Amino acid sequence: MLIGNIEIKFPVVMAPIAGMTDEPFRRIVMECGAGMTTTELLSAKALTLDSGKTKRMLPFIDEPGPVAAQIFGGEPEVMRDAALMVEAGRADMIDINFGCPVKKVTKTGGGAALLRDVKMAGRITATVVAAVKKPVTAKIRIGWDLRTVNVVEMAKTLEDAGVAAVAIHGRTASQGYSGVADWDAIAKAAAAVKIPVIGNGDIRTPESAVWRLESSGCAGVMVGRAALGAPWIFGWIRSFLETGKYGTIATVEILNVAQRHLAMMATCYGEVAAMRKMRGWLGYYTRGLRNGAAFRREINRVEGIEPLGALMEEFFGADPGVIKEEGTVATS
Ligand SMILES: Cc1cc2nc3c(=O)[nH]c(=O)nc-3n(C[C@H](O)[C@H](O)[C@H](O)COP(=O)(O)O)c2cc1C
Repeated sequence: MLIGNIEIKFPVVMAPIAGMTDEPFRRIVMECGAGMTTTELLSAKALTLDSGKTKRMLPFIDEPGPVAAQIFGGEPEVMRDAALMVEAGRADMIDINFGCPVKKVTKTGGGAALLRDVKMAGRITATVVAAVKKPVTAKIRIGWDLRTVNVVEMAKTLEDAGVAAVAIHGRTASQGYSGVADWDAIAKAAAAVKIPVIGNGDIRTPESAVWRLESSGCAGVMVGRAALGAPWIFGWIRSFLETGKYGTIATVEILNVAQRHLAMMATCYGEVAAMRKMRGWLGYYTRGLRNGAAFRREINRVEGIEPLGALMEEFFGADPGVIKEEGTVATS
């Protein structure tokens, strides 16, 4: 898949997830075979007001790519200025968020609010595209609510405004994460534009990824929640695409990934913050594993990266085994 002049060697990409797709996790999913990553959504206004905290969330200079930085906002000039700042850094592309339904975002006139104002979405996009040389992409939902599904109109407008690709989450903003993603709506939009469309929503297994890739007319697919605590899903999808089969993961391999993740977070945030963040991630890494609840209680009682690491070794080393979907996790 080509996004502007950027080659995405594997058309299965990691979805942006606020609080999760930070630099350490982006590295982890790239190591596991994702085709590209995106930062979480960043406020264009905060970037232009010189917020150090927001700037630190931009792609790191030495991180593997392709990586996009995602910005949101409702004012064309602020979005343009933020895009220029993003362009000056590591990001390979600038992604505009037109899908976030959270009030904090929509009340700025940005995110999913723009699904209700297609003209303004087009204006913001055209202003950004005119200002930068790097490819500009957009991430949208299929509409504001089920009565006003306008995904085809939105995709065409963004294409006309110059985006190099569009990612579509097959839900409306009002749905939040309830119901199921409407892949028929995604397919209609994919058929209506020439730019690559990346379909998104409810891909949880290699089977569903390959099915959507093959049946939706999308150039690529995007995986979100299923990759949290299971980044190896990207390798499995690749394997399933190439051979019709995919492997299992031993608990000792989960330990290896979790240890690398912890080490990268320690480098990025320092040991204290890394330990706190790892507690949250271990909730994902132990999802469905026997004795996981007891382990999660235990890790909340220790302080320091070393005792946490020791507990991780003990837990995964003791081979807590499988109670996930059959065939997805093997015991070591
Ligand atoms: C906690 C959470 C945070 C999210 N943050 C973002 C975000 O910052 N930017 C964005 O475009 N989408 C965001 N999303 C939406 C995801 O990128 C994706 O579209 C959605 O989860 C559907 O894909 P999935 O079913 O594979 O998870 C978020 C989703 C969740 C659950």
